[in-house]
Amino acid sequence: MMKICMVGTGYVGLVTGACFADMGNEVWCVDVDEVKITNLKAAILPIYEPGLKELVERNLKEGRLRFTTEIKLGIEDALLCFITVGTPPCEDGSADLSYIFSAAQAIGQCMNHYLIVVTKSTVPVGTTEKVRDIIRQELKVSAREHVGFDVVSNPEFLKEGAAVEDFMRPDRVVIGTENIGTAELMKQLYKPFVRNQNPILIMDTKSAEMTKYAANVMLAARISFMNEIAQLCDIVGGDITNIRTGIAADHRIGRQFLYAGAGYGGSCFPKDVKELINLGYKNGLEMAIATAVHEVNERQKHYLVDMIRKRFGEKLDGMRFGVWGLAFKPQTDDMREAPSLVIVQSLINMGAKIVAFDPQAIKEAQQVFEDYADHIQYVGDMMEAVNDADALILITDWRQFRQPDFSDMKSRMRQLVLFDGRNQYDFEQIEKYGFEYYCIGRNY
Ligand code: UGA
Repeated sequence: MMKICMVGTGYVGLVTGACFADMGNEVWCVDVDEVKITNLKAAILPIYEPGLKELVERNLKEGRLRFTTEIKLGIEDALLCFITVGTPPCEDGSADLSYIFSAAQAIGQCMNHYLIVVTKSTVPVGTTEKVRDIIRQELKVSAREHVGFDVVSNPEFLKEGAAVEDFMRPDRVVIGTENIGTAELMKQLYKPFVRNQNPILIMDTKSAEMTKYAANVMLAARISFMNEIAQLCDIVGGDITNIRTGIAADHRIGRQFLYAGAGYGGSCFPKDVKELINLGYKNGLEMAIATAVHEVNERQKHYLVDMIRKRFGEKLDGMRFGVWGLAFKPQTDDMREAPSLVIVQSLINMGAKIVAFDPQAIKEAQQVFEDYADHIQYVGDMMEAVNDADALILITDWRQFRQPDFSDMKSRMRQLVLFDGRNQYDFEQIEKYGFEYYCIGRNY
């Protein structure tokens, strides 16, 4: 059992804290947001993530998980302190590290015993060392140089929508430290999570930080590559779903992250791709691949809009479009950088009215599309979204959209036109019900 403090109770901090607590550790989760902390004490979560609420409830009840706004209280007995604050993108695409640095400052100001400070948020190469400098400086200012500490980089690899599962059963754990004792301690902490010979990898801090960017940009590159091939298929022929299975059979390529679609979104891929480009730029290196990954994705987010424009023209006044899925991917209510932002806004700007359904993201969408409120109607049932629609647009591949009642849809829609941004349907189904069908790279 270890005593752990999480500084930052957002997505990563909350999942990490709850999972550590569930393994028997004593965890304090700290956040400056008083409302958030008050809610969390009552197991009211700021995000939707499968399995997380149950985990928080159980560990709160059993007293292993506690919430506070007082960082001093959080680190009082702790051996490990994780920095899990946000690193939102700045206007130039670089990661805003101000929350990381103020967390480091706050830790340095109140620690009075040996502490291992772990950067878990995704941070550019060199940030963990800057955290060390800031803490050292704070200790010096208050004449507490005798208080020892260490820093570690321990990037997280969890996916939204599967975060608890990913944390509990990681493919690998990356630990960046040059100190053997710290490495041993971190290994002990993660041992219960790592099964099936999945490794705990010890490396230097900079490699650990870079591993996270390299992994995310590599995954984003696979998606952009498939999206580019899909667009080419739409011009020269070929079906991207056949091509995916064809290349995935090569075990060097593998099966995952090869789905063409409406473009990748979320808080991670877009931000990390931009940060890598930026890091290269600042250091005089053009990151040609990362730049292309980003540009292809921007183009892809407009691909469905281009199709709609080709089919219905520039002016969509008086037309009604049903939308299925607003979140950037299924199993989340997160809309950050979601392709739906580009698609919905473009269609409204062309004069359309949108009737949208999403199983989780409606509340989020109401805030995000506040300025467009007069042009969007939200409905609580997927079939309501197609009533009187001139077309249906599927943007997020929630499971419940996979096998809709096509004959019911047929009776509700004004025109039987379906734009499928996630290649969800078989051509036979579509033909049987007489839909006009547009999809991504399947040359239909
Ligand atoms: C991503 C990584 O997958 C995690 O490993 C990483 O820890 C996380 O970022 C992070 O940096 O914190 P996440 O953003 O939650 O996780 O979501 P993904 O499941 O990776 O999906 C990202 C986007 O790619 C979604 O918009 C999804 O629809 C899209 N996607 C994914 C595709 O278009 N095609 C695919 O084949 C796979």
